[in-house]
Amino acid sequence: MTSATRYAVTAYGVFSVFVYGFLAIVKGTFFQKRTERQLVELQIASDRLWNLSKDFAGLSHHILTLASGFKFHLVSNEVPGSTEAQNSTKPLVIFIHGFPDSWAVWRNVINQPELQKSATIVALDMPGYGGSEGLPKYDGTNVLEKMTELIITLRSKYGVDDETTKNKKKTIILAHDWGCVVAMRLAAEAPTVADRFVLSNGPLPALALSNIKRLLSTAQKKFQEARAAPLRAYSPLREAWQALRPVLRQGVLSGYIFAMQLPVPWVKYFLTGGNASLMRDVHTGSYGKAKFTMRDIAESMASTLGPSLSESKTETPNGETYPTSINFNGEFANIMGPASYYREGAAQSRWHKSPEIEAWLSEHGATGLDEGLPGSFKAPATVFWGEKDIALEKAICLDGIIDFTSANSQVVLLPESGHFTPVELESRAAFLRTVQWFIDGEQGDVGTAIQEVYPSARVLAQK
Ligand SMILES: *[C@@H]1O[C@H](CO)[C@@H](O)[C@H](O)[C@H]1NC(C)=O
Ligand SMILES: *[C@@H]1O[C@H](CO)[C@@H](O)[C@H](O)[C@H]1NC(C)=O
Ligand SMILES: *[C@@H]1O[C@H](CO)[C@@H](O)[C@H](O)[C@H]1NC(C)=O
Repeated sequence: MTSATRYAVTAYGVFSVFVYGFLAIVKGTFFQKRTERQLVELQIASDRLWNLSKDFAGLSHHILTLASGFKFHLVSNEVPGSTEAQNSTKPLVIFIHGFPDSWAVWRNVINQPELQKSATIVALDMPGYGGSEGLPKYDGTNVLEKMTELIITLRSKYGVDDETTKNKKKTIILAHDWGCVVAMRLAAEAPTVADRFVLSNGPLPALALSNIKRLLSTAQKKFQEARAAPLRAYSPLREAWQALRPVLRQGVLSGYIFAMQLPVPWVKYFLTGGNASLMRDVHTGSYGKAKFTMRDIAESMASTLGPSLSESKTETPNGETYPTSINFNGEFANIMGPASYYREGAAQSRWHKSPEIEAWLSEHGATGLDEGLPGSFKAPATVFWGEKDIALEKAICLDGIIDFTSANSQVVLLPESGHFTPVELESRAAFLRTVQWFIDGEQGDVGTAIQEVYPSARVLAQK
């Protein structure tokens, strides 16, 4: 970054902190104290989601230590590495959350008994989130190495691969927001870790950049046309505005990303100030049209905050505990972890693969990784887009995404849904139906299957 860019980013970041603060003050959330009842509900929710000794709706907690020593927290309906898990023929279904969440953003999807009966479920905390260990730096290499090592380990602990046989059963990854960004990189750079990726409401940086450039260049051309013929300027000016509008809107909506670039104390204040009023506003918006109950409020916050000091002392039935590197004394178990994904290039910086991962990928037939558009997916993908997303502009993040997919892929528009598809009622059903379609061997059209549970869903494009 040049120093001029750095000043501009900082200035916009500071401006955004004030705008968000101002909005929270106007809405009244900034000075809102938590009531006794809310504090009790939060403790109950925290215990329900993070107490390692307890099952959550048929799922148990596990701390998985990778060969590299890194510790991941996850929940699953089977014990990783157990004979039952390795012998089971059920497909492996992996759920990856986004910002500002944890495994628990999927709580109302993975708790479904039919899903638990027909699949092996794993919902994990990404590095630096919830109960998983943090990274020294959240660049492409660190984040993708750990995530890939985890998925490869899960594949062996759940019997997808063993010493003699590969791909004994199918694996699918469902990912949202930052999880989606990371999973898109896996689909492009390590595509054989799964048989299908379901990718919801996260930006693909290469596509977003190319859409922004295209829209800006259209706007520029239309402005020139208007200047050349001022008497007939109305129509080109309108077209220029139409091209410019999504770019400007995305700029406004991305204010928080600029705030994340500020010095650490600013970022901490941004995320926690006014009793985490920003998080509360995000959660309130996340439920869509459904009623946001006292329990939902508490669970959303507990999902964001991660394990509290009391849960940090709990143990799984096997005696596993949360990583000691997490500082449980603050309100958030991990606060700079999630923010660092925005700060340290996890989305776009180069992934220097370790020889172990290179070897695994080549043994698993990952070829042609340099073909197609940079960042394009080399595995079947189902892209879900909640159309009412207020964080990401469709014209920038979705238009043209089909060009980045490979065979057996679909782009599905969910008109009733917003950004938080794992939480909203209608989109939850769409995820479950898609997993069922995958488990049943991808018979028939996925769009038709989704429409059974989400009648207004529309397949925008497919390959
Ligand atoms: C946050 O909540 C605590 C306890 O409910 C309260 O004492 C404090 O004043 C609140 N902070 C703000 C900025 O409202
Ligand atoms: C797992 O499979 C092996 C080999 O097929 C078999 O010998 C063993 O009994 C099975 N174990 C369980 C717990 O199902
Ligand atoms: C965690 O759950 C166990 C089992 O229900 C309970 O006995 C224990 O008190 C809980 N621990 C904490 C710190 O809440």
